[in-house]
Amino acid sequence: MSESLCFQRYLNAKRTVDDRALNRQVWDDMATRVAQKNTPLRVLEVGCGTGTMIQRVQDWNLLSGIPVAYTAIDSEPKSIAVAKHKVKVPADWSLTLQAADVYDFIAAAGAQKWDLLIAHAFLDLFDIERLMPQLLGVLNPGGLFYFSINFDGETILEPTIDAALDQQIVDLFHRSMDERVIDGTVSGDSRAGRHLFQHLAQNKASVISAGASDWVVFAQAGTYPADEAYFVKYIIQIIEDELTGHPALDADAFAQWCAKRKAQIEAGELVYIAHQLDFLGRI
Ligand SMILES: C[S@@+](CC[C@H](N)C(=O)[O-])C[C@H]1O[C@@H](n2cnc3c(N)ncnc32)[C@H](O)[C@@H]1O
Repeated sequence: MSESLCFQRYLNAKRTVDDRALNRQVWDDMATRVAQKNTPLRVLEVGCGTGTMIQRVQDWNLLSGIPVAYTAIDSEPKSIAVAKHKVKVPADWSLTLQAADVYDFIAAAGAQKWDLLIAHAFLDLFDIERLMPQLLGVLNPGGLFYFSINFDGETILEPTIDAALDQQIVDLFHRSMDERVIDGTVSGDSRAGRHLFQHLAQNKASVISAGASDWVVFAQAGTYPADEAYFVKYIIQIIEDELTGHPALDADAFAQWCAKRKAQIEAGELVYIAHQLDFLGRI
């Protein structure tokens, strides 16, 4: 990140944005289904970041009164350290927080199985065709999955700076998600949300419920709620880092565009909307 912004602070700032965005029908359907499961409920969360979903599960009473064995992994040890510091462990829970790559973790899990698999703001970073069979393979027969905040191809930044340039930047940003190479493999999908229906069908998984979970970030009376100014600053910085030096962009025009977007944040004018989808399903 060229300006020194902190990924863990971004993830923490994302909490309130996600809280508003999450599709309540899909969440409520998950709550109904987990209440029917045998206990202790074995939960696996992949890509847990700083543990905000674990806190949400507790704060929103998803599993209250249910004995829970919750395992959460993330490849970034710094995020796991933050999670270990801030996440509480209720009396009827066991909680394992582990720094691990998702593929390595699954390979090492052997015959272990879980009842509920959570992947939040995670799948759109991956080659889903490769990851999905392995992910679903960790579930017990009839196990549930909750895949939330899957990006789905729409980024909206208001107010307009220059309609043609705005569109070009958004298009190039989305293309960069599709062309991202990690460990020599193309990983990422800017339309992961809509494509999940097919990925799940190909793996013989059933969708119980699905719905939109769009991020909508805006300031009121010039002030963004909680730490959301940091959140949008981080998003603009991701775009700047990704596209600086892109041959299709005029370097000066792009630098000015980034500066204007940052000034809009300082003035509390920038509105940021991203279209995403949530899924609940079972194998
Ligand atoms: C967009 S963040 C979302 C984090 C968290 N779920 C949240 O919403 O706050 C994606 C997370 O996936 C993690 N991640 C990326 N690649 C991974 C991998 N191969 N194995 C495990 N975690 C990974 C990153 O470290 C990051 O924390």
